[in-house]
Amino acid sequence: MSNATKPATLLVDDKSFELPTRDGSTGPSVIDIRKLYAETGMFTYDPGFTSTAACSSSITYIDGDIGKLLYRGYPIDQLAEQSNFLEVCYLLMYGELPTQGQYNDFVTRVTRHTMMHEQMTNFYRGFRRDAHPMAIMVGVVGALSAFYHDSTDITDPVQREIASIRLVAKMPTIAAWAYKYSTGQPFIYPLNSLSYSANFLRMCFAVPAEEYVVDPILEQAMDVIFTLHADHEQNASTSTVRLAGSSGANPFACIASGVACLWGPAHGGANEACLNMLREIGSVDRIPEFIARAKDKDDPFRLMGFGHRVYKNYDPRAKVMQKVAHQVLDRLGVENNPTLQVAQALEKIALEDPYFVDKKLYPNVDFYSGIILDAMGFPTSMFTAIFALARTVGWISQWKEMIEDPEQKIGRPRQLYVGAPERDYQSMAQRG
Ligand code: SDX
Repeated sequence: MSNATKPATLLVDDKSFELPTRDGSTGPSVIDIRKLYAETGMFTYDPGFTSTAACSSSITYIDGDIGKLLYRGYPIDQLAEQSNFLEVCYLLMYGELPTQGQYNDFVTRVTRHTMMHEQMTNFYRGFRRDAHPMAIMVGVVGALSAFYHDSTDITDPVQREIASIRLVAKMPTIAAWAYKYSTGQPFIYPLNSLSYSANFLRMCFAVPAEEYVVDPILEQAMDVIFTLHADHEQNASTSTVRLAGSSGANPFACIASGVACLWGPAHGGANEACLNMLREIGSVDRIPEFIARAKDKDDPFRLMGFGHRVYKNYDPRAKVMQKVAHQVLDRLGVENNPTLQVAQALEKIALEDPYFVDKKLYPNVDFYSGIILDAMGFPTSMFTAIFALARTVGWISQWKEMIEDPEQKIGRPRQLYVGAPERDYQSMAQRG
């Protein structure tokens, strides 16, 4: 619970109202406006929620001005360097780093839930082979509600826990099978002897006809990419999951809503859009043309992978991602990857251009991730599915926190109505 500090005073038509304020443990305090409408008859107005705290949370904190990201207080660069994705999952879900015993138990539980009900394979066969993997992910994740009735009662903490473990465990299988289905190759089943990230790579790239050995450098890179994408405060898809959850919808349906929202190119779809943009630029000498388009008010084009609602400095995840890009490309012998060269030149030019400097537009998590995933062999259509796989632990942790929050109510925003005032129905003859 935040401490109460001195109230804010609001003056409306010469009448003053006192609104309580609250401090968090870190970051901006809030003005509690829950009684504003009852006392003033007015709403606040904040499309896109640029100045609105929709909840209190102790999971993730971003300081956009200095480019800092903390998961349960731990800096993202330390977790990327020293931890691993399943340990980060434990941290996000339970709030503390696990002891060795807690970690071993958690890994075993996740490992034992990586398989899906065999009938789930039928859902894939209903899609065209060229279906976008995110279309499949939305459908199959939502369909989990039809198979795991023993973990859909959101009022039962045991069922909430089982559903959370199931979702974290099954997303790699769901995503890998979406990729396999698009290639016409058979599904590869999870192998319990492998790590979470190695399992995902093997389910994507192995074929039944021969052994597949996961490259440890790529396994480590995949694990870091999962960690970097795990959670990010109340972003659009997390807010979607919370809003869906506030109605009491089951966790599988809520996560499916998060997958749907993440798909947008302004959000999780930016990694796919960014690589497509880098390819369209094609060479360093065409960069000025695209920079000019990004600055042109009349051109809807935006530099994908650049800018962020919260970061007004370098996205700390992009810094780690850039390091991973060099490691992977070096390992794969494609260090002079032309797309990476365009990306690095574009970043340098943009960071020196007054337009981007003045608007505090920096590379975000999506700027380099596509280059890595492309080099690893993933088609661009799989990039956002991989983002969704990793973000599932963040969504489910935020969902669980919302369910257990005594202040939570069903989300029901109001509006500024600018439509027609009341008027009587007119018959066809009266309409002229
Ligand atoms: C993710 O919320 C999260 O935390 C998301 C995420 C997560 O982990 O969940 O971090 C993941 O979604 C990262 C962002 C990926 N999206 C992209 O890379 C798409 C390109 N970026 C833009 O669409 C944009 O920067 C947003 C959507 C990310 C943020 O937009 P905002 O906060 O609404 O900012 P804005 O649109 O009001 O832009 C402010 C100004 C505008 O110019 P003015 O109207 O003030 O003159 O900056 C301009 C914009 O036109 N601008 C850009 C730009 N981004 C913003 N101009 C050119 N290229 C860009 N990329």
